[in-house]
Amino acid sequence: MEKLKFLIIFITLYCVVSEDNNENTPVVFWHGMGDSCCFPFSLGKLKKLIESELNHTVYVKSLEIGGSLVRDYESSYFIHPQKQIQDACDQIKRDPILSNRTFNAIGFSQGSQFLRALIQKCPAVKVKNLITVGGQHQGVYGLPNCPSLTEKSCEYLRQILNFAAYAGWVQNFLVQATYWHDPMNEDAYKAKSTFLAEINNEKTVNNDYINRLQTLEKFVMIKFANDTIVQPVETSWFGFYKPGSSSELQTLEESEIFLKDRLGLKKMKEDGKIVFLSTEGNHMQINLKWFTENVINNYLRD
Ligand SMILES: *[C@@H]1O[C@H](CO)[C@@H](O)[C@H](O)[C@H]1NC(C)=O
Ligand SMILES: *[C@@H]1O[C@H](CO)[C@@H](O)[C@H](O)[C@H]1NC(C)=O
Ligand SMILES: *[C@@H]1O[C@H](CO)[C@@H](O)[C@H](O)[C@H]1NC(C)=O
Repeated sequence: MEKLKFLIIFITLYCVVSEDNNENTPVVFWHGMGDSCCFPFSLGKLKKLIESELNHTVYVKSLEIGGSLVRDYESSYFIHPQKQIQDACDQIKRDPILSNRTFNAIGFSQGSQFLRALIQKCPAVKVKNLITVGGQHQGVYGLPNCPSLTEKSCEYLRQILNFAAYAGWVQNFLVQATYWHDPMNEDAYKAKSTFLAEINNEKTVNNDYINRLQTLEKFVMIKFANDTIVQPVETSWFGFYKPGSSSELQTLEESEIFLKDRLGLKKMKEDGKIVFLSTEGNHMQINLKWFTENVINNYLRD
């Protein structure tokens, strides 16, 4: 048994080392709410697509949070994002291919803001292009739908968020509360959000966050043109509701984060690093042909 274990480790290491030379830049995924690292109908399918488009010379890792598939699925609702980020940071440090190597990062839905936070917070990660797909960089104000939960559980979460998103116990138990952004009460959001306001430098300014984002080559934000799940959909492009309004929208460039330059996004924009893409379809309805032409070919091929 022991011998077999050693043999497997040896073969794995051998493959890793021998493949290393002509390998494409590796890719890391972070899944969204109600999803997991590896469901074959969602990220599993996308992983296969990238591998085949890049002639199987690419290492694709889909982060599994919490140590098992079940925990990973639950994590998207119930493990605090700051804990998830620590877990992801540790996984990358331990990964023989990803530690000390630059990779491309793709975040899906809420995994978008988690990956951005990982770049800002974890010195071990070195990312070339950050691509976010249907993300919520300025949070959400509304939860019209909860993927893979029953209607009753979803309604329950919705009610908690509407009435007590900023209560300490809700922030601790429900992931979606940590990026709940009430535009009618910006002060409460900045004071009480235990994740998004912190990583967006709205509580204090952490210069490490600014400096680490500047190391990206591109920050590509993809919005679903027909998204009925993310409210407002502009958050996928770092826009949001205007403070004091729950209907009028503002773009990234009109937001306080940009105008007061709290995250260094002005410089990134001047340097041509920020890319906005829009694709037809509802939330996470990724058209594979579109994805190949616009994402794989432009940002994942070396
Ligand atoms: C992948 O393989 C195809 C066909 O063998 C070849 O045309 C293409 O150039 C290869 N692409 C890369 C990135 O190696
Ligand atoms: C990564 O680099 C650090 C510092 O140079 C080194 O201590 C560590 O062993 C490296 N990790 C791997 C897996 O090579
Ligand atoms: C999706 O949104 C685009 C842009 O707003 C619109 O042109 C298109 O008709 C919409 N498609 C569907 C199926 O609703």
